[in-house]
Order: sequence, then C-alpha cells, then structure tokens
Amino acid sequence: MLGRTLVLEVGRVTEGAAIAAAKLRGRGDVKAADKVAVDAMRKELGRINIDGLVVIGEGEMDEAPMLYIGEKVGTGQGPAVDIAVDPLEGTTICAKAMPNALAVLAIAERGGLLHAPDMYMDKIAVGPGLPDGLVDLDASAEDNVHALAKAKGVTVEEITACILDRPRHAELIAAVRGTGAAVQLIPDGDIAGVIWTTDTDQTNIDIYLGSGGAPEGVLAAAALRCIGGQMQGRLLPSNHEERVRAEKMGADVQKKYSINDMASGDVIFSATGVTDGSLLEGVHFRGDFAETETVVMRAETGTVRRVKTTFRNIGTKLAML
Ligand code: FBP
Repeated sequence: MLGRTLVLEVGRVTEGAAIAAAKLRGRGDVKAADKVAVDAMRKELGRINIDGLVVIGEGEMDEAPMLYIGEKVGTGQGPAVDIAVDPLEGTTICAKAMPNALAVLAIAERGGLLHAPDMYMDKIAVGPGLPDGLVDLDASAEDNVHALAKAKGVTVEEITACILDRPRHAELIAAVRGTGAAVQLIPDGDIAGVIWTTDTDQTNIDIYLGSGGAPEGVLAAAALRCIGGQMQGRLLPSNHEERVRAEKMGADVQKKYSINDMASGDVIFSATGVTDGSLLEGVHFRGDFAETETVVMRAETGTVRRVKTTFRNIGTKLAML
C-alpha cells in the first residue's frame, strides 16, 4: 500500500508543473511550455521520499533529457513505486490558451502500471455504476451506444460520446451519430475526456471512444481505478518499428487491456489545471499570488480530493521550480 501522506506530496508535483506551464499559456510555443512543466515536475518529484521509477515518461532515455522511461526519481528513501507522468497534457491547447490543459501524474506500487510505449491506443470508457462488460472495444460503436442507453434507461438520443476531433475518427463519428447519439468533439486532451464519463450529470459525457496516446490511456485508467468506471485499451502500432518497440517494453499489441491490466494495486492520481476547463480551473495569477486547483485521488480508499491552493510570493516559487 502507498502511504496516505503521499497523496499531498503527489498533488504538489502537479501543482508545480501546472504553475510553470501556465506562465507560458497562449505564447504559441508548444515545446517551451512542455519543457518548463517537465523541469518543474522533475524538481518536485526529487523532493519526495520515494524510490520512484518512471515507466511512462517523456520518451526513451536517448530522446528525453528528463523524466525519461527508466529514470529513477525521488530521494530513494521510501516505497518502491512506478510513476507515469504527463507534465503538460494538451501542449497545443496550452500554447493556444484553450480550455482543459492539465499537469498529470500517477503513482502505483512497483509493477502496478502498464509500460505503454508512446504510440496510439484504441480506447473505450464509461463511468461507474454500470454492469460489468457493458461496453467492449470489439463491439461496434452502434452496439456500445445502444447497450449504454439501455443500461442507463434513456433513449439513444440522450447519449453523448466524447471523441478526439481527428480525420482518423471520421467513420467512428458517423457511426455514433448514425445511432442518433450526440458527439462532443475535443481538440486534444483525452485523459480529461475519459474522466468526464465518471460525472455525466456535470459533463453530459456518457462514453469516451477512439484512439489517442497510449501513455494517456494508462493515466486515464489510473484515474478510473480511483473513481470507478470501466475502460479498455488496445495498442495500435502504426508500423513494424512501433510493434518491435512495444514488444521490447513487454507490452502485448494484440491484448485488450482492462483497467486493472493498466493500473493495479494501490494507485494515486493527481491532475492540476493549467488552463480553465470543465474538469479543473486553470492557474490564476493575481499579483504575487497564484491559485491552483488539483484533484488527487487514491484507489485504495476511493477518496477524491479537490484541493485549491494559494501560493504567495509566486516569483520566488517560480524561481525555485
Ligand atoms: P500532447 O499534450 O502530447 O500534445 O497530447 C495531447 C493529446 O490530445 C492527448 O490527450 C491524446 O491522447 C493525444 O494527444 C492524441 O494524439 P494525436 O494528437 O496524434 O491525435
């Protein structure tokens, strides 16, 4: 089991990354915002008493200077944990100052997170309180939407699917709309897209469908392990090289991964808003103050905390990040 005090420590890590990235919102520079978020997250992780191993990071050791897959983080004193990071989820939306950019991190007991390579993953997710196996990656979009409407006791027209707005999803979008259901398209950020399915009353999203990053898939599964819900994912290598890379990392490209295959044991998930969004408010700077909103959750207890933090002397804090 992960220590409960880790919950607050983990929240600090995403707060630091979010504040750093928020300073570069709307500057049109995707790489710069990501870099400062990575640097800040790395520094904050270095202060925590964990023997951490990055399993989902910024890339392989030779392509990422920091938070690369296999990097050891933390003080080395404390529990042996696996770490999945996405210091800036939605690099483009942050660069354009659009809604829903997040700083995201998940920590699990060693061996608890799928070592997913940086490639696409086909995903399906619904919120909690529905019969197990109600939706399935191998069923048609039509069947999934109809099954969901029936289980929720609503008409298909009352169902909304969240899908990344990409040309590769044209057929999927048409299939969902063909049932009479609505489609909410998002420009980026499918970790939030999956999490939205867990609070349909607020978000109006019933189901998440389509392909996005595999690392984001594991992070979303970690969140659902804490809040509840169902999710499946299957890697989608686009060429031989990606298939070999996946196999080298021990992943099975044929396998339909369940939530528990992607995130098992005790898991802590934290996300801090970078830009305002429907999951979280972004960082608000007021003079020398900064306010952040973070959601931190833990699988062992199912506790979901929303933490609003005010940082004073933000100039000094930024200099330390
Ligand atoms: P980045 O923050 O790395 O830009 O990822 C944003 C994102 O929208 C993810 O949420 C999603 O999983 C992935 O990109 C989808 O990839 P693509 O933009 O290639 O469709």
